[in-house]
Amino acid sequence: MTHIVAVANQKGGVGKTSIAAHLACLSHETGKNTLLVDLDQQGSATLLCSGDGNKHRTRTGTVLDLWDDAVEKLNIQESLFGFDYLQASEELDAVDDELEDARKALLRLDDYGYDTIVIDCPPAPGVRQLAPLLIADRQVVPITADALGTQGLVGVLVQHQKLILPHNAGLDLRILVNLHKATSSTQKAVIEQLREHLGEKLLNPILTDREAVKYALRAGKPVWATTKEPFGEAWRAVCEELLSFSDDGGEEVEDVEGMEEVEA
Ligand SMILES: Nc1ncnc2c1ncn2[C@@H]1O[C@H](COP(=O)(O)OP(=O)(O)OP(=O)(O)O)[C@@H](O)[C@H]1O
Ligand SMILES: [Mg+2]
Repeated sequence: MTHIVAVANQKGGVGKTSIAAHLACLSHETGKNTLLVDLDQQGSATLLCSGDGNKHRTRTGTVLDLWDDAVEKLNIQESLFGFDYLQASEELDAVDDELEDARKALLRLDDYGYDTIVIDCPPAPGVRQLAPLLIADRQVVPITADALGTQGLVGVLVQHQKLILPHNAGLDLRILVNLHKATSSTQKAVIEQLREHLGEKLLNPILTDREAVKYALRAGKPVWATTKEPFGEAWRAVCEELLSFSDDGGEEVEDVEGMEEVEA
């Protein structure tokens, strides 16, 4: 059975792609057959996976193939990290009009028998952010502990409640603080407030702002493989929590019939 984790937030630059890559690394390390899907036309995950900043400048052999019934076999590639990935295309906005088509396209991934699929979503709240949430088991929302970060969170919570839960009642929402400046007392206060309001939806470990994260990713490694400092272990702890499913081996993915039953 496949577990699908979508990393999605309406705010840019908060660490979605970095966390998606780390999730895929941990899943791969633990022996799970793992696919990272890059749905962002900027192709940041594709760059990390391949080392090639121009790789997404094509339409063929990309994630867009999911929308094309004529393509029988996806161009799944092996990343520098070791897990498989399905690369982005700079033309991904061509599929931004039809939500149902996007949901169906992503459901085709079921045929590939992965244990874990991590989807890196674009920062804009459109079809390519909503469709993954309709089929995922978990939404991971990285935020920064500042006024802008928390403003964006309101949009995420409204989207979850109004647009997603009626169709995918099982979607588990997890929020984590990234890029924390450990010396900032303002950020500390924001985190305390977030804990009060979000309860267990907010992950306990906080990810601090460390240059080592960039270097590790550029070297095709998770940060826990390149540093012995505690923040490396914090990244691993976050990923372990985000990849743990109460029903490992059970029945967490909702299919369309299941969704209808929930609605009825
Ligand atoms: N904890 C961290 N410490 C230091 N740098 C980080 C950390 N997390 C992410 N970064 C860096 O911040 C930048 C933005 O991260 P990333 O690309 O993962 O964000 P994103 O939310 O996917 O952005 P976008 O909205 O553009 O897709 C990258 O250069 C990344 O290496
Ligand atoms: Mg990104």
